[in-house]
Amino acid sequence: MSKIYEALKKAEQERERSRLRPTLRAAAGATEDQASANQEDYQRLRASVVSMAVPSGLHTVLICASHHGEGATTVAVGLASALAKERETRVLLVEANVRTPCLGAVLPLSTTAGLSDFAQGRAAPEALVTRLDDVNLSVIAAGNAPSPTMNLEVIDSLLTRLQSQFDFVILDGPPVNNYADAAVIATKVDGVILVIEADRTPVAEAEAAKRQLDKVGARILGVVLNRRRSYIPAFLESIL
Ligand SMILES: Nc1ncnc2c1ncn2[C@@H]1O[C@H](COP(=O)(O)OP(=O)(O)OP(=O)(O)O)[C@@H](O)[C@H]1O
Ligand SMILES: [Mg+2]
Repeated sequence: MSKIYEALKKAEQERERSRLRPTLRAAAGATEDQASANQEDYQRLRASVVSMAVPSGLHTVLICASHHGEGATTVAVGLASALAKERETRVLLVEANVRTPCLGAVLPLSTTAGLSDFAQGRAAPEALVTRLDDVNLSVIAAGNAPSPTMNLEVIDSLLTRLQSQFDFVILDGPPVNNYADAAVIATKVDGVILVIEADRTPVAEAEAAKRQLDKVGARILGVVLNRRRSYIPAFLESIL
């Protein structure tokens, strides 16, 4: 890969990061309130995943959306954190989105090296894990090395190396309708959760994402309808 391509790619990623950073920071700043408001939802999502873990051997889960910004990273972090609340549950969150990586803006990662550095043979996966003791979470970021696509061998070999050390590996993926990466990763995980933004994602786009995943034989565990707004009062909704 040429140096110019690398520089352009880095600039593109930096532009994308700075576009997302303020909103992610704002969300992080609001986490106390927002997290407690969302906690119920993530606990429910966690319960569904845990209930499938034993009977069907579900350990590796890819979270992806149909398009950018629908909330894949948000849901991946929320689910991983909810699973990690059980202190004895070992959870690894992998930023498997080398297109628009931004996990470092949401979580206090000690290194920016990650998956793409492993893909380029620059580091062993074990050396890339940041341990967040406060939240009982282990995290691997997308990394610094230029890696325009995600290949099957990289994910396969990462999961082979690390899977046995964790009860759950949650992968934060890029959007299915934008890149082939998510469908590639989907073939290597036990299940996929599709994130769809309520009132924004057209049905045809959601269907297209599902078709892509079906085509590669992915096991779709379910769909998270993100940012759903309720048009009825909360007290009424809670008794419905
Ligand atoms: N339920 C929500 N409530 C409030 N803000 C949200 C919610 N879900 C996502 N966001 C915000 O929307 C923005 C995009 O979310 P996120 O980064 O999770 O999307 P994404 O699907 O991972 O995007 P990309 O494909 O670019 O990685 C972020 O600023 C995030 O904080
Ligand atoms: Mg994301």
